[in-house]
Amino acid sequence: MASRTGPGLLFAAGAIILLAGGVAAAAADKRPQLSDETLYQLLYVEPNHYLQSLGNISDVPGSLSRTFLSPAHRRAAGRLRRWMASAGMRTWADQMANVHGIVKASDPEAPTIILGSHYDTVVDGGNNANFTLDIRSRWDKNRKQVIQQLKTTMEAVCARRKLQCRLYVKNEAAAVEANPELVEGLLNATVDAESLVARLLAQARLHAPPAPPPAATCAAPADGGMQGTPCAEPPADTETTDDSDAGADGDVTGDALVSGAGHDAMVFAEVTKMGMLFVRCRDGISHSPLEHVTPDDVAAATATLYRYLRKHLLFNT
Ligand SMILES: *[C@@H]1O[C@H](CO)[C@@H](O)[C@H](O)[C@H]1NC(C)=O
Ligand SMILES: *[C@@H]1O[C@H](CO)[C@@H](O)[C@H](O)[C@H]1NC(C)=O
Ligand SMILES: *[C@@H]1O[C@H](CO)[C@@H](O)[C@H](O)[C@H]1NC(C)=O
Repeated sequence: MASRTGPGLLFAAGAIILLAGGVAAAAADKRPQLSDETLYQLLYVEPNHYLQSLGNISDVPGSLSRTFLSPAHRRAAGRLRRWMASAGMRTWADQMANVHGIVKASDPEAPTIILGSHYDTVVDGGNNANFTLDIRSRWDKNRKQVIQQLKTTMEAVCARRKLQCRLYVKNEAAAVEANPELVEGLLNATVDAESLVARLLAQARLHAPPAPPPAATCAAPADGGMQGTPCAEPPADTETTDDSDAGADGDVTGDALVSGAGHDAMVFAEVTKMGMLFVRCRDGISHSPLEHVTPDDVAAATATLYRYLRKHLLFNT
């Protein structure tokens, strides 16, 4: 489904590009019956391949640094555009190096969906550098107290793990509100996606034996809205949280979250209804070499988007 007016589909991350495949396939047939094998290719294999392929584009060999307008950033733009074009999209880049791709719906009255993401990265922190933890709180109520509680919790985690942490709060701005209906629809879609995710994971296990989960390093509490935590040394232990691989059973559950960080969605919120879908990172760590997302969790997110689009924009089923 796509654009009548407005900027149309704006793609910038592997997990999102796949959607073009899903939508294009759906447009060809009113009620496509995609086999589990096809769904596995579209919702599991391709997005994870795209993510890994993008993750290989870096200005610094051996680490991931793709800062805005750097050579790697430009190479990534080229690759994104080729993927979009191969999914049947018309693509262009604007003066701000935004990469755009658009698919026109056959129905000129069809609503416009806009998807957006960054494709630049922060400079790889490496040892002894700062990195940012993105920590989410469920709701924006009592934000300041929540942030203080988080800070206290984080200090305890750092002490327990003998990490040198310095905590500072970066963002206390009032939240941009997501559209409640979109949020409810996305939450519903996580429930609708459950059996699909279980089937995707079953396919994945058929195709390859599950890899052993990589050792976790730093831990973070999963509540609240705060940023900023340097993690100077690898911890002595490799304890993982109980649910760090929960996606492996196909138990996909959605919670409404508030993000403390700035996102492109803040801009979109000014022009249209906006909702965000977060893919969890191991131990909540992001913007760091320790950031890690499992292929299963990527598939849980793509399956949820797929369910959402089928239900709300394509076939009402
Ligand atoms: C990423 O780079 C590694 C090492 O060069 C290579 O083995 C792998 O195939 C690449 N992955 C993708 C998806 O391009
Ligand atoms: C980490 O952040 C602090 C506070 O912003 C800054 O003073 C320091 O230089 C940073 N360290 C590195 C290695 O970037
Ligand atoms: C979510 O699911 C509930 C229960 O089936 C339903 O009543 C509600 O209308 C759904 N909301 C949206 C936005 O789809």
